Amino acid sequence: MRVTIFGATGLLGKTLMREWTGDDVSGLASKDADIRDPKQISNVLEGTRPDWIVLAAAYTDVDGCEQNREHAFDVNCRGAINVAQAAKHYSSRLLFLSTDYVFDGAKSSPYETNDPRAPVNVYGRSKAEAEVQISQVLPESCILRTSWLFGIDGKCFPDTILKLAASRPAIEVVDDQQGSPTYTADLARAIIRLCRTGAKGMVHATNRGDCSWFEFAREILAVARLTTNLRPTTSEHFVRPAQRPKYSVLSNKSLEKHGIETPSWQDALRRYLLQRTSVLPREPSDALPGTHG
Ligand SMILES: NC(=O)c1ccc[n+]([C@@H]2O[C@H](COP(=O)([O-])OP(=O)(O)OC[C@H]3O[C@@H](n4cnc5c(N)ncnc54)[C@H](OP(=O)(O)O)[C@@H]3O)[C@@H](O)[C@H]2O)c1
Repeated sequence: MRVTIFGATGLLGKTLMREWTGDDVSGLASKDADIRDPKQISNVLEGTRPDWIVLAAAYTDVDGCEQNREHAFDVNCRGAINVAQAAKHYSSRLLFLSTDYVFDGAKSSPYETNDPRAPVNVYGRSKAEAEVQISQVLPESCILRTSWLFGIDGKCFPDTILKLAASRPAIEVVDDQQGSPTYTADLARAIIRLCRTGAKGMVHATNRGDCSWFEFAREILAVARLTTNLRPTTSEHFVRPAQRPKYSVLSNKSLEKHGIETPSWQDALRRYLLQRTSVLPREPSDALPGTHG
């Protein structure tokens, strides 16, 4: 199988490039093909002629999107549609990465794939609009929503907490947003299986279970055996340019229909922290049970 990954230099894309063995996989950075330009997309696809395109390229700065609305829609919506049109032209299957932020968070039970979209920020609106238009251009595409990514290939929440814990006596983290942390290594494995089994339609894929950002931070500090003072706060006290949904847990039933089960986020976090200690230069905050401290 030939696969082309847009966004191969990102947090998820880099992990996908490493995890995806046994197929002919090529990865693209924005300098190889800017998805805002249809010509640049067809130039690369002319060479790779993929069976599958994985579209992990996006403008993912949620607060930045609020201030750069046009850019957000250029990349996340119009750019994504350009890729879908090119996929149709080259008869390639498409897996498009989307987000839990297409929902408003008004529910209190996990979001199913057919729950109505109601994004509360520009990032979510740009992805929601892309989902709608991609399904029109290419009805057999696979739209994969995920949430709260962490992994060794880019900036992520556990990394930030460990760095803050190393430099501050106390940390405040919001306790009124609930979601599902997702390890890029587990997500990459799910994506590879979905492509190999020819998945179509809407799929939700996260690690199992959910928590608030505060609970996530508490687990990170506990696993790293750090005693930093952690205090819960609210979104009202920690105001950011983009509003976030209060609850954006995705139901993995659609993933399980494809025979894929993901480990719990707590299990994923432990594996991430072990991977992080073995890959990154050691810092005091890298302490893990059984290693030191
Ligand atoms: N991170 C999360 O928590 C999260 C949650 C839910 C869904 N998602 C979705 O998952 C996917 C992967 O996210 P991520 O966190 O891995 O993203 P990321 O680390 O921010 O990486 C973004 C990637 O997109 C590429 N890119 C940006 N603008 C582009 C353009 N105009 N043309 C071509 N490529 C462009 C970047 O390429 P260069 O580096 O070469 O410029 C980079 O490879 C995205 O679709 C995102 O919306 C992410």
